[in-house]
Amino acid sequence: MGIINTQLIGTGSCIPDLVLTNEMLEQMVDTSDEWIVQRTGVRERRIAKNTHTWELALGAARNALADAQIGADELDMILVSTCTPDYNTPNTASVLQNELGARQIGAIDVNNACTGFISATDIADSYIKAGKARTVLVVSAETLHRVVDYTDRSTCILFGDGAAAAVYRATDDRQIGIQSTFIAADGAGADDLYMQALPVEDPFAAERPVDPKARFLKMKGAAVVRFTARAVPLAIDTALQRAGIDAEAIDWVVPHQANLRILDVIARRYHLPKEKIYVNLDRYGNTSSASVPICLDEMRKNGLLHAGQTIVCTGFGGGLTYGAFVLKL
Ligand code: COA
Repeated sequence: MGIINTQLIGTGSCIPDLVLTNEMLEQMVDTSDEWIVQRTGVRERRIAKNTHTWELALGAARNALADAQIGADELDMILVSTCTPDYNTPNTASVLQNELGARQIGAIDVNNACTGFISATDIADSYIKAGKARTVLVVSAETLHRVVDYTDRSTCILFGDGAAAAVYRATDDRQIGIQSTFIAADGAGADDLYMQALPVEDPFAAERPVDPKARFLKMKGAAVVRFTARAVPLAIDTALQRAGIDAEAIDWVVPHQANLRILDVIARRYHLPKEKIYVNLDRYGNTSSASVPICLDEMRKNGLLHAGQTIVCTGFGGGLTYGAFVLKL
């Protein structure tokens, strides 16, 4: 069998229209545009008001299929990464299978927080390289406003909504495609960034009160910064090593758009000019697992990606999870 590599053949995104600016947040919590820009780099983010995660996912999926110039009937697998699903069951991938009119193929959600796109790509790559799938759709979709506490100034300034998708296809061209992947988790840091799903409670109690704030995202910001400064270089180093590629060969690093400080860590560590590290967090904030594919789609549409380039994508977040992959275009 000639299947040896996983090529990126299309991307698409779905970005909500509603813009939440720093000035609007100034009206909601005790903060300032200056503080937010200095500490985070975020100027505005998007909010998918009254919109399901699956609707964003569907928009992104359709755009990616159109970009790849393939029909949904050609898909062999659908993977969705989200930490903000609409339902515990059905999963978002099954909703997409039906909405896209895909065949009855494997449809799996990956809950790996902000590392979700990296992890889903790792799974897609494994299926393709094992010969179990030829064409895989990976969609990352998040409606983080549903878990953000808009009275908590330390978190509400950071997050936004959005979705993006990638279509991967088997190729027998050894020169292109995913060269390596790496994913990992450090569960000891679980408390640093979490949101509760189902409450632990006495099912037979007369009353089963639900704390409306229980589902909100809780974060120890400084601990997460320390984690990313350690985890991201480890992820990139490992992915480069597995690909047998030196840092000098990198044309672009596409990092999860969480904080500006991690961009500095990457630039210093790999002696990369800042221009080689893609940034759009000023416009979208942190969209969790959607951030890396939103960047990839934006870069493709803006003509920044060309055949022959080497790209390193990296993600990190709740879990605490982290990972990276090397992609040759
Ligand atoms: N506006 C104004 N002041 C704020 C504020 C806001 N939006 N949010 C927090 N502050 C205040 C704090 O209350 C604190 O005040 P105090 O010293 O009087 O107690 C002060 O600013 C410093 O807070 P601190 O949390 O130490 O700030 P920081 O320099 O660590 O910056 C983050 C906070 C969130 C920007 C930073 O921790 C960060 O980027 N964390 C990583 C986030 C991340 O990557 N998360 C997702 C990973 S997937």
